[in-house]
Amino acid sequence: MTTTDTPVTAATASSAPTASVDLTLRDISSGAASGSSCSTELLDAPWDVDARDPGYGPGASMADPIPAASPRQGEIPQEYRDASTEELDRRIRAAKAELGDRAVVLGHFYQRDEVIQYADYVGDSFQLATAAKARTDAEAIIFCGVHFMAETADLLSGPEQAVILPNLAAGCSMADMADIDQVEECWEQLMEVYGGEVPGDDGRLPVIPVTYMNSSADIKGFVGRHGGIVCTSSNASTVLEWAFERGQRVLFFPDQHLGRNTAKAMGISLDEMPMWNPRRPLGGNDEQALHDAKVVLWHGFCSVHKRFTTAQIDKARAEHPGVRVIVHPECPMPVVDAADEAGSTDYIRKAIEGATEPTTFAIGTEINLVQRLAAQHPQHTIFCLDPVVCPCSTMYRIHPGYLAWALESLLDGEVINQISVSQDVADPARLALERMLAAKPAPVGAAPERATSERTTSER
Ligand code: 13P
Ligand code: SF4
Repeated sequence: MTTTDTPVTAATASSAPTASVDLTLRDISSGAASGSSCSTELLDAPWDVDARDPGYGPGASMADPIPAASPRQGEIPQEYRDASTEELDRRIRAAKAELGDRAVVLGHFYQRDEVIQYADYVGDSFQLATAAKARTDAEAIIFCGVHFMAETADLLSGPEQAVILPNLAAGCSMADMADIDQVEECWEQLMEVYGGEVPGDDGRLPVIPVTYMNSSADIKGFVGRHGGIVCTSSNASTVLEWAFERGQRVLFFPDQHLGRNTAKAMGISLDEMPMWNPRRPLGGNDEQALHDAKVVLWHGFCSVHKRFTTAQIDKARAEHPGVRVIVHPECPMPVVDAADEAGSTDYIRKAIEGATEPTTFAIGTEINLVQRLAAQHPQHTIFCLDPVVCPCSTMYRIHPGYLAWALESLLDGEVINQISVSQDVADPARLALERMLAAKPAPVGAAPERATSERTTSER
C-alpha cells in the first residue's frame, strides 16, 4: 500500500507545557482565569472517571449514550495513580530512552499538551497511521488518540507490531454511532428497496457505502465487502466522486455533517440527502425518498463539533473585523456555510502556518489543537469559536499516567491494552483503505458542479 502524505514529526519537548488546556481548566477552577468549562469533572483524574458508571466521561460527549459493548478501562496500578507529574515525567522519559526505537509514541492533534510533549509524531489520524506503517523498526506503537485510530494503525502496520491504546476507554462517540449490526440491518433494508446489489443500465450499482475514517474496523470491513471505500475529512469529495462513478447513490456514515457538507459543495441538493435513523423502519424514510436519494446520511455526529454555532461566528466577526473563520467539516452545515473556510485538522494547521501577515483566526475545532496553534504562532491572534472550554471527552481519557504504565510494561516484556483487528475484518477493511489511497481527484473541468462560494474544503 502506498501512502499519500507525510506525518508531522515532533521533536520531543524537554519541559512541561506552560500553556495548555489542562492548565487553563485549573486556572478557571481556582479563579486565576476568567471563563468557563463544560464540566467541573474535567479536573478529576481519568482513573477516577474510569471507575464510574459506563460513559464517555466529562467533555463534549458527556451526554451521549454509550453502547453497552464499548471497551472499559480497569483501574491502572496504584503507583501510576499516586505518582506526581514530575515523577511521571521522569519515568516516561527514562522508559522511552531505554526502549529507543523499539517503541514509537503517536499523539493526535486533539491530545492534551501534557501527553503531546512525549510524542514522536504528532498529526491527524491518517498521518499517524501512516507514521506507524513507516516505523517498521518499532515493536510497539503507542497511539495516544482514540480507539478507531489505533485500529487503523493496526490495519496499516506490520503483523509483528503491537498497537497499544493507553486507556481502553478512549473511544469516539461519533464512531460508536454506527454499530455494525445496525449497518447490516440498514443494508438489508436498502437492498430490498433497490432490488439487490445489481448494476443498473448505466453499469452502476444502486448504492456504494462510504465510511469516514472515524468508524470502527468492523464498519470499514463492511464497506470493503460491499464495494465501498473509506474517506477522511481531507479527501471526502474525491472519494464521493469515486463512489458516484461506481454507484447511483452513496450510503455515508457515521457523520451526517461531513456527508452533507461535502455533498452540498458538490452541488447535490438537500432534498437528495435523506437521513437514515437506525432506530426507525427504512431509517424513517419512505421508499420514494430512498429512490430519489443521491446520498443517504447516517444519523451520526461529533459532539465536539456540534457545539459550534453561527451566533459564535457572528460574534467573532463583530468583535474582530477581518477575522478569518476556519471550521472543521464535522460542524453543522449552517456553521460551515457561515465560515470563510472549512477543512480538516491538518488543513487548519497549514492555513495558519501559511499566513504570512499577522492575522486573527477564529477556529471551529477541538480546543487542544486551537490552544496549541495559538501558543505556536504568537504573531497571530488565534481563538476557539466556542467560548466554553470543552475538550473531546474520549481524547481526554489519555493521561501521562497511562502512557507511563504502557511504556514501563513494555520494558517488563508485557504488552498492555493491545488493539488488534481480527483477520476476517482486517482484509476487507484494508481493501476499503487501499481504494481510498488509489482514488484520485477528478481532472480539472471534469468535477461535478460545485456550489458557488469562496469557501474551500481541503483535499489531501
Ligand atoms: P482527523 O482525521 O483530522 O485527525 O480528525 C479526527 C477527528 O476525530 C476529528 O474530529
Ligand atoms: Fe470522535 Fe469528535 Fe472526539 Fe473526533 S472530536 S474523536 S469525532 S468525539
